[in-house]
Amino acid sequence: MTIITNPIPKFTCFELRPLTGSIGAEIVGIDLNAASDELIGNVHTALDHYHVLAIRDQSLDPAAFHEVARKFGPFSGNPIHTPLDGFDDLVRFTRSAEDRGPVVGEDWHMDLAWMENPPAITMLYGEEIPAVGGDTLFASLSAAYEGLSDAMRSLIHNLIGVHSGKGVYALNAAQKAFSVRASGHVADDIESQHPVVCCHPKTKRPHLYISGSLTRFVGMTEAESRPIIEFLKSHAQRLEFTCRLRWAPGTVTMWFNPCLMHAAINDYPGKRRVVLRTTVAGSPPMAAGGR
Ligand SMILES: [Fe+2]
Repeated sequence: MTIITNPIPKFTCFELRPLTGSIGAEIVGIDLNAASDELIGNVHTALDHYHVLAIRDQSLDPAAFHEVARKFGPFSGNPIHTPLDGFDDLVRFTRSAEDRGPVVGEDWHMDLAWMENPPAITMLYGEEIPAVGGDTLFASLSAAYEGLSDAMRSLIHNLIGVHSGKGVYALNAAQKAFSVRASGHVADDIESQHPVVCCHPKTKRPHLYISGSLTRFVGMTEAESRPIIEFLKSHAQRLEFTCRLRWAPGTVTMWFNPCLMHAAINDYPGKRRVVLRTTVAGSPPMAAGGR
């Protein structure tokens, strides 16, 4: 398949600082409280190209965060977490200084990849952030695809992945940082099929569609699938495909969920960290090349 390269537009209404050569950018000099449709459109375009954005120095309460998020699209739904009082589309994750053990999302994953229609965008707002620690890692599944040999691309081109929600509820229910819906256990029975090679809905840039939820390929056993899945996941984590995002209070971080895997870093014991989270609905992942 031909690699699609899209020229990156120049933005005049904010300063954009790329984080690495492959993924991610910081945006400074905007106030999302007063965002015009044009500004939101420009941020969305930047997201289409950089896939991860850290918008610095915002001052948002839950109502304002809700307002901003919904300018990017309708809520995707969240079958797992109990929403914040008064906001069906927001969840507050609170890691207290006393909490120990795993943090949610510390293994590489795509958010809700096992849903038939996974969120297009995940958005977080840092309410309380430790002075150091709690960074988020991102791996570009576009750069990872482009880093494969032609032979490997041919091998995986027509594969369909089976993604399972099994275990997601238990993982989340074990957390003190938030509460889960009583109905959340339905995730255990959800399986969705998605092409392994998809493309971004606007730029058409191809990307792998892989996550911790990928259990096998259609027509293959788990044992046959496992070596390919493990190779693709470890390949995607190569350092040249990643960025590491450092948080600050008031940072809005948003990412185009199907083009990435991400992981939370559990390195801030004894410190409190509070973020608001919402997700934006997308369309089902599109197979690259119009298959
Ligand atoms: Fe996540």
